[in-house]
Amino acid sequence: MTDKIEGHAVIVVFGATGDLVKKKLIPALYNLYAKKIIARRAPIIGVARGALTKDEFVKLLRFDEFIPNGEKKTLSGFQEQIYYLSLDLGESRNCTDFAKLVQSLGKRHGSDGNILFYLALPPSLFESAVGVVESSGSLEAGGWKRIAFEKPFGYDLGSARALNDCIVRVFQEGDIYRIDHYLAKELVQTILVLRFANSIFEEIWNHKFVDNVQITVAEKIGVETRGNYYDKAGAVRDIVQNHLLQILALVSMEPPKSLNADHIRDEKVEVLKALKKIQPGQVVIGQYGEGVVEEEKVLPYREEKFVSPRSETETYAALKVYIHSKRWKGVPFYLRTGKRLAASFAQVNLVLKDAPRGLFLEQESGPAPNVITIRIQPDEGVAIEFNAKHPGYGMKLHPATMEFCRPCQFDMNSPEAYENLLHEILRGDQTLFTRWDGVKASWEFVDPVLQIIKNRKKDFPDYEAGNLGPSDAERLIVEDGRKWCLPRKRDAAAG
Ligand code: BG6
Repeated sequence: MTDKIEGHAVIVVFGATGDLVKKKLIPALYNLYAKKIIARRAPIIGVARGALTKDEFVKLLRFDEFIPNGEKKTLSGFQEQIYYLSLDLGESRNCTDFAKLVQSLGKRHGSDGNILFYLALPPSLFESAVGVVESSGSLEAGGWKRIAFEKPFGYDLGSARALNDCIVRVFQEGDIYRIDHYLAKELVQTILVLRFANSIFEEIWNHKFVDNVQITVAEKIGVETRGNYYDKAGAVRDIVQNHLLQILALVSMEPPKSLNADHIRDEKVEVLKALKKIQPGQVVIGQYGEGVVEEEKVLPYREEKFVSPRSETETYAALKVYIHSKRWKGVPFYLRTGKRLAASFAQVNLVLKDAPRGLFLEQESGPAPNVITIRIQPDEGVAIEFNAKHPGYGMKLHPATMEFCRPCQFDMNSPEAYENLLHEILRGDQTLFTRWDGVKASWEFVDPVLQIIKNRKKDFPDYEAGNLGPSDAERLIVEDGRKWCLPRKRDAAAG
């Protein structure tokens, strides 16, 4: 791994005509180019089935939707290094065109033999894409060769293993970049800094001080155009197995030996392996019916495009999880996610135990628990809620908050998750990527959750779109004598 990015590499994008490429990858690559992080020595080859010319492909990428007008010159430089190759992965046994193009562009642009293969493809095509790469001989020349792809990393443990086997047959773990875009979010990365660069936090980050931890990814959006994928996946596979468990791992891991990617990932894997087997009473699921979101009437899930009208897929999940470790003895981690909820927000809350001496318990409004909130989005920041004295006579309490507001303190936009991810792949740092043993451990935990869901009698839909989710989710936490933390906006009421 080098500290400085050397943006010399042929970037081969399979599945180049898909949404991910248009919406995320190309804008991210453009930003890296505009910031001079990747240069003329990083040609991008879009590979897809359609018989397109280069110009048609460039047109399809809809640069006008995200490039400001004043950047025409930079844009034309960037477009010059985009190429397109039509290749039917399902049928192609002939890799000659592919091999020739990758080789000749590598030479023409002086990319030092480095190649990044990005699979923006459904997993069913991974094997064919890896087959093309292998038989083209592109892996044989000097320079690094890396492969990147994203979830779903399987449908369950068995299929995840099969998928992994087909990749590791050709690539070494050190060259595999499994993407979980939540890991590239600024405030998710902040978790490690918060914990391990501040004694004020790390000293209390354990069962002696923490009563419970809540991790939420809530969305107002429905399934949009992704009904086909989502109806087979559901909220647990879509968000819990990856984003929520990755955040949980960062919040609960032991200190790593160093900031080396493998040391960090070693500790993350340890907590994932230490998750206690879930019981049916610790799992709540739901599915949205019709309702109103942002003053607009929206369809029930079962009427969304590409969704079965009798679908039993969950669009909401809440879990109570325990970690078998000294640090987290008896501390419940409540995880929840859902689509078509009242608000879009992602946050972590550490709710601390009551102050040891009950001096203020007699007060009319007794002391509220201290809560440490990491706002992943929107309104990125960290807040600590505590009790202050209400001004005036006597000793009345008043809730107060200490704030770190990231955008107020740093006068810069943090790079979008995908820009960050591509930057790290080209730099060769795997910290923001999941390792196979971590993916495996998360499926080992999730498979029994899926089994519980499969066996459950469903009465869907069971929450109104634009609402807070099913009432059972409330029960899950209230019966423990606790409550969900609401999204807190800086200096404003929940919204
Ligand atoms: C994706 C899920 O991984 O994350 C989507 O497949 C979800 O269903 C998305 O909408 C949420 O990501 P973000 O960055 O918009 O919070």
